[in-house]
Amino acid sequence: MFITFEGGEGTGKSTQVKLLAARLQAEGREVITTREPGGTAEAEALRNLLVSGDVGRWTADEEMLLNFAARGSHLRQLIVPALQAGKTVICDRFVDSTYVYQCLAGGARRQLLSELSITIIAGHMPDITFVLDIDPEIAMARAKSRNDGQSGASRADRFERKGLAFHQRVRAGFLDVARQHPKRCHVIDANGTVEEIASRIWAKLDG
Ligand code: TMP
Repeated sequence: MFITFEGGEGTGKSTQVKLLAARLQAEGREVITTREPGGTAEAEALRNLLVSGDVGRWTADEEMLLNFAARGSHLRQLIVPALQAGKTVICDRFVDSTYVYQCLAGGARRQLLSELSITIIAGHMPDITFVLDIDPEIAMARAKSRNDGQSGASRADRFERKGLAFHQRVRAGFLDVARQHPKRCHVIDANGTVEEIASRIWAKLDG
């Protein structure tokens, strides 16, 4: 089974990825957790190029190409072999992030995304996607306090610095994705404690 988590910055995705993996492992499933952009050495190198530097470093089209290059490496080397071996793959972000960040919020052409998806994703779409939803003002404050605890290069990344209006478009974009794919996507209220959010997710998976 291929599970993805989506949502803006500071929605708590990475914590929920870990909790869900632990819960599924406790049930005896073999689970791998991974993230995008990233998951392989090549994709992590591309991630560094994407998340660091000036906000204007890449156009939305360039971001899309880099994300798909990373995704191709990730699918080929990690995700597809794990799924074929019967493992559950839980991935923090996938192609819905490209649609929302680069197309809806960034202005890149949807046609370009469709073409790249046919070639690179080749049908390996998630079975279930959890869209963690929270007001970007609250989420950005969470992301900021996380960054404040870190040093130098890992502080406020390129995307976090794009501003509130951009992140409001991102939130609306993910809700739009969930409306377009109601079978695959579950919108999860990301307000509340870590445990409350985890049990909302579990209820959808269990139900
Ligand atoms: P993260 O903060 O959730 O780890 O994700 C890194 C950043 O990359 C985040 O700001 C969203 C952005 N991103 C895109 O813009 N397009 C994509 O396709 C992916 C996977 C991530």
